[in-house]
Amino acid sequence: MQQFVVAGGARLEGSVSVLGAKNAVLKHLVATLLAPGKHQITNVPGILDVEIMSQVLAHIGARCDFDGSSVTIDVPHDLVPEAPIHLVRRMRASILVLGALLARSGEARVALPGGDDFGSRPIDIHVEGLEAMGVEFELTHGVLHASAPDGLVGAEVMFEFPSVGATENLLLAGVMAKGTTRIGNAAREPEIEDLALLLSSMGASIKGAGTSTIEIEGVSDLSPVSHRAVPDRLAAGTYLVGAAITGGEVTVHDCVPDHLRMELRKLASAGCEWEAGDDWVTVRGPERPSPVDFATLPYPGFHTDMHPPMVALLSRASGTSVITENIYAARFRYVGELNRMGADVQIEGQHVIIRGVDQLSGCPVDACDIRAGAALVLAAMAADGYTTVINAEHIDRGYDGFVEKLTGLGGEIRREAIDA
Ligand code: EPU
Repeated sequence: MQQFVVAGGARLEGSVSVLGAKNAVLKHLVATLLAPGKHQITNVPGILDVEIMSQVLAHIGARCDFDGSSVTIDVPHDLVPEAPIHLVRRMRASILVLGALLARSGEARVALPGGDDFGSRPIDIHVEGLEAMGVEFELTHGVLHASAPDGLVGAEVMFEFPSVGATENLLLAGVMAKGTTRIGNAAREPEIEDLALLLSSMGASIKGAGTSTIEIEGVSDLSPVSHRAVPDRLAAGTYLVGAAITGGEVTVHDCVPDHLRMELRKLASAGCEWEAGDDWVTVRGPERPSPVDFATLPYPGFHTDMHPPMVALLSRASGTSVITENIYAARFRYVGELNRMGADVQIEGQHVIIRGVDQLSGCPVDACDIRAGAALVLAAMAADGYTTVINAEHIDRGYDGFVEKLTGLGGEIRREAIDA
């Protein structure tokens, strides 16, 4: 087990670079299964989730070789079309192999992911969409067996909610289906646009990615690809909130500021100053943040994954803020941890009511998920005394070199390995 020990009080100052987005690279790795041969993805972050996805691919028969931030994926002709429970449990995104394996092998066996710290997290939208494309499902012994006896066929699908994962699963299934697949109310995240870009470089025919209607014309085969992953807007956003919460000044390089426009708008409302160029953004934090209200929404709305870091910031605001969480039913476990640090945060249904306090104080806290863990580290930077963040491996799932990058910005943080 890993824990981070943070000494509060340092102002974060300086520059940091981010690599490719976790939530893009995981899908790129899966997409390579669509074409036998050697693929290359660059700008890949060195994070635990990428390592877990490489194990999923290894189980399926594809080999990933890492060289710094570049990965070569060797995909064989014959695949083992399954994702086993021990890997799906470690990383829910493993269910994304469904679409790609159905396209390549006509079948897939994927252990059904249970709920997690965000609530029940069903996959009904994935299943409904794939059923429309001719897929039959059977659930036995906790494993979802999917098969397309007559092959995948293009379909007109209208999502009830713009699910990121379901949009990606249908993209992966649709690129080699017979005919045209049209996804209405599709998710519009930059990572989806990036997946479509990668698939198009492989020879797929996709229109409208990044809008709410995506049209995919099935092709008979695809070729290996070389692709650079889109920058991680969530890693970038986390370091910017770090500047905000410590009253510091941080420039994030190698990012796309436009992908953070709603988050930057809310940081400005909290009293931050910011400026940006094509691939960099600087945030200067205020002495004390002002309260801000907002709701999390699918892109281009305020990202749910930036909700915990933002609550950490607003816990020290000069008044009361209200945040409404619209994406997840139960993304609130971190609140109890933040309150142990002296914050005054209350949950009312889907609303988080944050009454700003003068000072947080360090104590042992639990990083219950990736973004909650990052939020607690940021809160610790602004707190009085020392904070120990246990279960820090959650943070390692999503942030490349988190401790090193924060140290480079002047943060006082160190990693410790502890016995379970
Ligand atoms: N949902 C359903 N049925 C479905 C699919 C989703 O009810 O069939 C619900 C979910 O339960 C959830 C909401 O819809 O309440 C959003 O789910 P979505 O499918 O959009 O998200 P996801 O694909 O499971 C990705 C990211 C998450 C990020 C969300 C929202 C990856 C690997 N994960 O999850 O990232 O929070 O989109 O933007 O891409 C993270 O990086 O820390 C993280 C959790």
